[in-house]
Amino acid sequence: MLVEIVSDYEAMSERAAEIVTHQIRKKPDSVIGFATGSTPLGLYQRLAQNHQARGLDFSKITTFNLDEYVGLPPSHNQSYHYFMWTNLFDHINVDPSKVHIPQGMADDIDDFCQWYERRIEQAGGLDLQILGIGANGHIAFNEPGSSLGSRTRIKTLTEETTQNNARFFDDPDEVPRYAITMGVGTIMAAKTVLLLSSGESKANAIRATLEGPITAMVPATIVQLHQRAYVIIDEAAASKLEYRHHHGIIEPKQQNP
Ligand code: PGA
Repeated sequence: MLVEIVSDYEAMSERAAEIVTHQIRKKPDSVIGFATGSTPLGLYQRLAQNHQARGLDFSKITTFNLDEYVGLPPSHNQSYHYFMWTNLFDHINVDPSKVHIPQGMADDIDDFCQWYERRIEQAGGLDLQILGIGANGHIAFNEPGSSLGSRTRIKTLTEETTQNNARFFDDPDEVPRYAITMGVGTIMAAKTVLLLSSGESKANAIRATLEGPITAMVPATIVQLHQRAYVIIDEAAASKLEYRHHHGIIEPKQQNP
């Protein structure tokens, strides 16, 4: 694991943008796994700027998103389809036929999940998977207790997640109860993972992830077993690390995957 501790959210986003940009320049047809949530927004703004101001070419990349709510149409403003298009894909020259986001409206969800896994494989596997982390240590919708070998599947959302989401919906019946998510095993098969985290609310999860025992109760701890894991966190997220002084110094040659 390469752990880099930077000053704040902006610095985290800047560093993440360097890594993703380097990946795309190095391999224009990269297969990139994208995440939703507040964490990668600054990264996505910078990628859009790198396209618009510096001509970064996304036309050959293939994308796979981590997860999507079941039952929300892509046009719904809380869907992850909507999030990805409005926050990134509409602002870069990605080829829509190479964009993959789980289909929360699929008729046969199990079938869809198997297809999604096959598509990732047919694309040559994920070169780089971008990840946020939940305060409880989840990655994608792999909540505590998720199998560390899991693959793309349907998961029931925790009561906490459902309650947190309720404020975004006018009708309580509309609040999603299930999601399709890449599994922990799917994420681990990526050649490189880039875990981003910012803010004190993530400090316990980051400590458990970097310094705790590997456990399904904190699914993010599995990154300890990944051969190419980049962990970019800000000072606030790093504030509870016991071995803080060991982290944050990396060799120049290791700076990009
Ligand atoms: P956040 O969510 O980026 O909005 O903090 C991350 C997550 O819960 O995985």
